[in-house]
Amino acid sequence: MRARSLHDAVSCAGVRVVSTSSLPIDLVAQVTAALPGASVDLPREGHAGVAALDLTDADALVCLLLDRVDAALLARAPKLRVVANCAVGVDNIDLAAATAARVAVTNTPDVLTEATAELAFALLLAAARRLGEGERLVRSGAWTGWALDQLLGVQLLGKTLGIVGMGRIGRAMARRALGFGMRVIYADPSLHPDVAEARRVSVDELFATADAISLHCPLTPETRRLVDARRLALAKPSAILVNTARGGCVDEPALIAALEAGRLAGAGLDVYDREPALDPRLLTCPRLVLAPHIGSATTETRTQMAQLCADAVIDVLSGRRPQHLVNGEVWP
Ligand code: DGY
Repeated sequence: MRARSLHDAVSCAGVRVVSTSSLPIDLVAQVTAALPGASVDLPREGHAGVAALDLTDADALVCLLLDRVDAALLARAPKLRVVANCAVGVDNIDLAAATAARVAVTNTPDVLTEATAELAFALLLAAARRLGEGERLVRSGAWTGWALDQLLGVQLLGKTLGIVGMGRIGRAMARRALGFGMRVIYADPSLHPDVAEARRVSVDELFATADAISLHCPLTPETRRLVDARRLALAKPSAILVNTARGGCVDEPALIAALEAGRLAGAGLDVYDREPALDPRLLTCPRLVLAPHIGSATTETRTQMAQLCADAVIDVLSGRRPQHLVNGEVWP
């Protein structure tokens, strides 16, 4: 393996950019305009798993949260200088291995904040107002008409939303909840005095107090199974859980048991522990709204996410520090 530095002068002929997915921007045009002579490989459409790709001479990799980037992959890519992850979460990447290999890792924060908060709030409303059950009832043809006691849900006005993880998306969720007349509490390692209306509490107090709980934390060893049987037992039976963060933050069998036993009033999930595989009991669980990991899925946001990846690749290959560098240690 040749010795290399992130600041080596780059000769663009022979520089190779690989993307595991087609993108809603013209990556080829952007890369070749900025780095004449560079080549770009990407599928014409859809996603090609990173395991199938030849990365022997790849200088840059654009990948999705579906792609596991670990020491074994990095060993297959000895020239790699940057991994641009088209997601804000980087739990699919072994950051220590990337840093040890002196590979810059970038992500796509900010541009997906509002879209993800919108989806989280949509799931909260859908679970609170039993929209999934209502839609299934109408489509089934079994609806017999208006009834005084039909599909009674809960009103959000005046209720307390507990936000786990008061980062950008958590704060965007707080703004929405306040706009709906909810009170907001949050659990976060840091105090956020900028959201003056929100009170910081412990995770356990949040579970015991909130009428609705929304997860906005990254998946880390500390947050894995943060929602477990013990915390669900602390929650009010009238509470609703929303997860647009990562499936691994929730102990799914414990959530299913709580919903089936009526120890939790409802839930809205966008993410799953082993997605796209689902625990089949999720499909029959009462008062559960399911979405297919679409938190950031707006045309505007996905285009901006792809653009940040292109910018990151071009920056690193041009010797510039990328804007959203996750492992800053690789950049002197
Ligand atoms: C992310 O970016 O981490 C989301 O899960 C997908 O956009």
